[in-house]
Amino acid sequence: MIECHDIYSNYNTSLSRPILNGITLKINQGECVALLGLNGAGKSSLLKAMVGLLPLQKGEIYINNLVMTQKTLNRVRRQIGMIWQGGGLIPQLSALDNVLCGKLGTVSSWSSLWGFSANDRITAQSLLRQLGLEQHEKQKVSKLSGGQQQRVAIARALMESPKILFADEPTSGLDLVATQQMMNIITDLRKQGMTIVLVLHDLAMASEYTDRSIILDKGRVIYDGKSENIQHQFAHLC
Ligand SMILES: Nc1ncnc2c1ncn2[C@@H]1O[C@H](COP(=O)(O)OP(=O)(O)OP(=O)(O)O)[C@@H](O)[C@H]1O
Ligand SMILES: [Mg+2]
Repeated sequence: MIECHDIYSNYNTSLSRPILNGITLKINQGECVALLGLNGAGKSSLLKAMVGLLPLQKGEIYINNLVMTQKTLNRVRRQIGMIWQGGGLIPQLSALDNVLCGKLGTVSSWSSLWGFSANDRITAQSLLRQLGLEQHEKQKVSKLSGGQQQRVAIARALMESPKILFADEPTSGLDLVATQQMMNIITDLRKQGMTIVLVLHDLAMASEYTDRSIILDKGRVIYDGKSENIQHQFAHLC
């Protein structure tokens, strides 16, 4: 379960307000939620806040009943897989090494000097295989197509077997086939009971793949409800 209690990020001088400006929401285990809003609404910032990467001025975030503090941050992060806007992969590393980087949050910097364990390599290889990338594990990510790169990003996010997945515009820049593959993977994860928050710009996709949508505007929630007929809710923004 994810809970945000009236969260405010620090004051942003160029916006003359906090980027997140009083957000309260609760997402139950197993829900698949679309996070929508115009450019600059605060969608990526909200995901960052929910993995402890955006300092808060006020409010609390709970992940599976654990309040997020400096002390609990590592435990909280271990429960969340994140697919960053634009993939966030390291282009000069191989697909396999990028997936292994999904472990870096939990191994100490000292032990990471010795490389990853054999078990971690087996897990990473198995994830790449499940995502149809076994032929590409040694290939540099910069040489992979956009759809293949996004699948590497998913594999990396799943390295810790998280209960929660955040995906920031996971289909942006993908063609129709790769988009369909990505959404099929997300649907499978959803069927396994994972809690999923997807930042999307495509409203049709939000109504097809999610039950619930949250629309942000200027750092606030302006709609939180069913995804069907979301076009109508969004029209108020334009
Ligand atoms: N590191 C930062 N420093 C200053 N301002 C920032 C920073 N990150 C984001 N912002 C500002 O916060 C606001 C929200 O940005 P955010 O990236 O969360 O929007 P978004 O809803 O994800 O937009 P998009 O659809 O374009 O990805 C924007 O006005 C942006 O300029
Ligand atoms: Mg964004």
